[in-house]
Amino acid sequence: MASITAGAEHYLPEKRSLSALKAAAHGCRGCALFENATQTVFGHGKAKASIMLIGEQPGDQEDRAGLPFVGPAGRLLSRALEAADIDPASTYQTNAVKHFKFTRKGGKRRIHEKPNRTEVVACRPWLFAEIEALRPHVIVCLGATAAQSLLGASFRVSAHRGEILRLPAAIDVRLASEPAVLTTVHPSAILRDRSERRDEAYRAFVDDLRGARSAHAALTR
Ligand code: URA
Ligand code: SF4
Repeated sequence: MASITAGAEHYLPEKRSLSALKAAAHGCRGCALFENATQTVFGHGKAKASIMLIGEQPGDQEDRAGLPFVGPAGRLLSRALEAADIDPASTYQTNAVKHFKFTRKGGKRRIHEKPNRTEVVACRPWLFAEIEALRPHVIVCLGATAAQSLLGASFRVSAHRGEILRLPAAIDVRLASEPAVLTTVHPSAILRDRSERRDEAYRAFVDDLRGARSAHAALTR
């Protein structure tokens, strides 16, 4: 088996267009997650997209399809984006971690497992390179994994959701102009919510996405 190097850096191509990055990411062995997953699920969307959405990691369906947000969470996300007056097809969608992490319970069913900090940090060079290649006006972090990848391990979405933030100066992303960064919950959290608060949680999610739309409008005026 190929040796596993510590992190994705070693696999980054010289040319940093989104298509070159995607092609190179297919061979990434920057952490152990490539071993059990079907394939690398790289970001997807228009190279000119000015709104970038970052999830946690591909799920079961994304792992099979090779595309982010094609399963239930993706459908909820599309619906919420439309409700916030953002065309889902105009966005670029990606994940903090590019391989599906799971455990097998009982028979064949693959159960999602949260990526740990080491895996998030190992995969971050791809995310940084995507941000540099795309140069988005607005970055929306969906859930704690994406938010903590960009904003630090102690970042709490519950304390800052919906706020217009900036990328920390310490992170290694070179951009001519600073994107607005917003954090909100992950669409899977709404899907999992079986309580009477679910509709309210959905509306709050749409409100955060509306905030992203307003930030985008302000930056592109
Ligand atoms: N959840 C995510 O975070 N990303 C996907 O691509 C799908 C589900
Ligand atoms: Fe590379 Fe990220 Fe996959 Fe780990 S999860 S092997 S760092 S692409």
